[in-house]
Amino acid sequence: MSQAQQNSDNSRRDFIKVAGAAALVGATTPAVYAAENNTIQLALVGAGGRGTGAAANALASKVGPTRLVAMADVFEDRLANSHKALSSRFRGSVDVPEDRQFIGFEAYREAMDVLSPGDVVILTTPAAFRWVQFKYAIEKGLNVFMEKPISVDGPSSRRMLDLGAESVKKNLKVGVGLMCRHCKARQELFRRIQDGQIGDIVELRAYRMAGPTGSAATGKAPKGSSELLYQIRRFHAFLWLSGGAVSDFLIHNIDECSWMKNAFPVQAEASGGRHYRGSDVDQNFDTYSIEYTYADGTKLLVNGRTIPGCNQRFASFAHGSKGSAVISSRGHAPSRARIYKSWNMTKENMTWSFPGREPNPYQVEWDDLLTAIRRDEPYNEVQRGAEASLVTAMGRMAAHTGQIITRDQMLNCKHEFAPNVASLTLDGPSPLKANPDGTYQVPMPGFLKDREYGSLT
Ligand SMILES: NC(=O)c1ccc[n+]([C@@H]2O[C@H](COP(=O)([O-])OP(=O)(O)OC[C@H]3O[C@@H](n4cnc5c(N)ncnc54)[C@H](O)[C@@H]3O)[C@@H](O)[C@H]2O)c1
Repeated sequence: MSQAQQNSDNSRRDFIKVAGAAALVGATTPAVYAAENNTIQLALVGAGGRGTGAAANALASKVGPTRLVAMADVFEDRLANSHKALSSRFRGSVDVPEDRQFIGFEAYREAMDVLSPGDVVILTTPAAFRWVQFKYAIEKGLNVFMEKPISVDGPSSRRMLDLGAESVKKNLKVGVGLMCRHCKARQELFRRIQDGQIGDIVELRAYRMAGPTGSAATGKAPKGSSELLYQIRRFHAFLWLSGGAVSDFLIHNIDECSWMKNAFPVQAEASGGRHYRGSDVDQNFDTYSIEYTYADGTKLLVNGRTIPGCNQRFASFAHGSKGSAVISSRGHAPSRARIYKSWNMTKENMTWSFPGREPNPYQVEWDDLLTAIRRDEPYNEVQRGAEASLVTAMGRMAAHTGQIITRDQMLNCKHEFAPNVASLTLDGPSPLKANPDGTYQVPMPGFLKDREYGSLT
């Protein structure tokens, strides 16, 4: 037995209770839960910025003890930086010696193999790998925290919906990083909107016009570098990896509006363009203007812009028959959610705002997940996360093709960006190859109508 396995088993004896008959949900994987004082083990897969942040939230949670025991990444430097940052902040609860630091495309398996059923794996790679890694987590009976978006195209959305249903059957607890759903101020706003305080919602608006964001604008791969690894380091640039700027950036605003509406849109019409591209070769537009329609005809208008030098706005609003609401004001947190008795959002018209300081939603989402694990309460956000991911893809495809796209068209769209994503190797090719001049295929609205990029012939 390896040291890691032994460590895992010893800890497991200390802290996991196998619940009785009630816990035996699913034919093959007995559900297990950790009582309040027992340590829950964590593995981090994708040790970049958000992964390190998510692990920190898990380790900082006051909902009983947690310990990080394994890490996986495709880059040694990323893993080393994350390990250093987490070990210095959480000295006693990071226990990841070299033999539990795994590198490469199979590293996720090795990291999860360290865990036992009932532990939590954190999936924070770019979205392309989500379904592959989630599938393995389900096989291992692990609880999961995964970042948004959780799918990038029709086929991966279908897969995630199916896997989500399987994970519910197995009583696995799964959190999806749409942390705004855990924001106390937005939760109170949601209750008040459902209560009729702004009347019937007649329109929603969302903006993420924040200037250059992440690696959305990206230049050519350096000569002699691995194209695959270059793309992974600049994943916002490539649709197969992240779903691009709409899926990766706009999802929070689209989701929080849809939450307030208590529905997801069923159709999208959109426009956008590539304005000042210089030597950039990524596949994104730098403006997106999306009109979403809900089943009852209500509209959600979304604007995304990554052009530098323009007015910046990062906020969501709801308009009702009796008033209006700010869902978020400037970024994700604090939301500064509030209600007005008119569509004029002036101080005099304000009838409610969240009192006091808003707790950090990134921390609350972890506290909620860990509480559900410890109490063995149903907790699974995959369906909601998959619907939100699908809706962002629908808006993006509408802009990229210039066509009206329905939810069902998006869900059944056959264009799979990276059919071989489960079998990539460190020295192998990327699912997306550059043209001879180093540029990539980009969307061509009106010309390519049933896929977002490809050749015209
Ligand atoms: N909820 C939020 O507010 C929020 C904020 C930031 C990022 N995110 C999401 O988190 C995810 C990661 O974003 P990030 O900003 O941390 O990016 P990042 O590049 O900093 O981190 C991603 C890490 O995953 C690693 N990785 C890539 N492919 C891998 C694979 N196949 N196996 C193992 N490791 C792999 C990368 O090397 C990198 O270290 C994205 O889905 C992003 O949308 C969410």
